[in-house]
Amino acid sequence: MSRTIVSMPGDGIGKVVLPEAIRVLNAAGFNAEYIHADIGWEFWCNEGNALPQRTIDLLEKHKTGLFGAITSKPKDAAAKELHPSLKDKGFVYFSPIVGLRQHFNLDICVRPCQSFKGNPLNFIRRTANGDFEEPLVNAVIFRQNTEGLYAGVEWTNPPKQVRDAFETHPKFKKFTNVPNDELAISTRIVSRSACRRIIKAAFEYAKKFGYSNVTVCEKPNVLRETSGMMVKEAREIAKDFPDIDLWETNIDAQMMWLTKNPEYYGVLVSENMFGDIVSDGFAGLVGGLGFACSANIGDDVAVFEPTHGSAPKYAKLNPSIVNPVAMILSACMMLDYLGEEEKATRIRKAIAKVIEEGNVRTYDMMKLRGSAEAIKKGAATTQEMTDVIIAGL
Ligand code: NAI
Ligand code: MG
Repeated sequence: MSRTIVSMPGDGIGKVVLPEAIRVLNAAGFNAEYIHADIGWEFWCNEGNALPQRTIDLLEKHKTGLFGAITSKPKDAAAKELHPSLKDKGFVYFSPIVGLRQHFNLDICVRPCQSFKGNPLNFIRRTANGDFEEPLVNAVIFRQNTEGLYAGVEWTNPPKQVRDAFETHPKFKKFTNVPNDELAISTRIVSRSACRRIIKAAFEYAKKFGYSNVTVCEKPNVLRETSGMMVKEAREIAKDFPDIDLWETNIDAQMMWLTKNPEYYGVLVSENMFGDIVSDGFAGLVGGLGFACSANIGDDVAVFEPTHGSAPKYAKLNPSIVNPVAMILSACMMLDYLGEEEKATRIRKAIAKVIEEGNVRTYDMMKLRGSAEAIKKGAATTQEMTDVIIAGL
């Protein structure tokens, strides 16, 4: 059977790593056609929309997307770069990947952070007798992907109705004398159904892959309502999974624990912002952004992407030096999702072998500064790294 995959390279190194992942998919025998879709900065500048409707239509039709990375800039900087003919016409920049997650309700974000043996970037720690040990990390973060602090319900200089509504809350008293134009408000909105969906997905994954614990990572002692709801629902859902322990941590303490005993943790589940934070924390223990992959999954549509951004500093280097592994691992998650687990496993094994042998390493794995110089110092190019993975298949 041939599939159709919507390919959205986006900006910067997204355009570099996505074609590499497709090379690996082809070499693994995945039978697919790739349809290019426009997304990213140039479409904001030239059309006033970084996520054109034609791209949404393609995903609507074909359901599965591979995404590279986009460049995002703050509101004012974005407005400045808009084509002169579009200026002052009411166009407002929003991140197209956040837009995709919202539009298709891709509410389940999965971010595996698993160390490869032999990766010089793996976390190590000193033992009591002065030796070093390298605990293997095998954590998978489930991040609620559409709500919370990322839902985008926020204001500077809030409208009167909003201000009036906030004034009804007793804790708002301390802001009563703050002038409206000196007030910025973000909201953290969570819905029970979304909490339940992400927590259930986390438990089901733990069960399927034999993890003994699920950690709900929140801050219910302070964020009593939103984190409170996450924890309450986690306790309810945990009852249906008697063989899996539910652990409860606070996001701040979790960031400390994961640098002490990362091997204790299996599946973690959090609201959007906390999931973003804790997944970057774990990613740092397994090699950083060059290794961090992710899936955004909804009922009907799914998009797979490395968690890194467009790394503009490296976008123009020829040959390219960035690590394609995060993108290739994201493509493996797509294969799993499509029921092609055997091919995904073969690719992951090929990556593991390349890393363990250690003959071919990108600049990040050699702990070099990212520049053209890195290649002279023995770093592999992006394409060489892909080639050796393909050879390992
Ligand atoms: P970034 O992830 O693009 O790069 C940060 C640093 O991480 C790079 O300078 C590089 O040292 C390293 N890095 C990233 N990917 C790598 C790879 N594949 N191999 C080796 N090293 C790698 O984050 P930054 O610099 O904060 O943002 C750059 C742009 O990307 C911004 O416009 C930002 O808004 C956007 N961004 C987009 C994301 C997305 O598309 N999902 C996610 C994060 C940032
Ligand atoms: Mg992030």
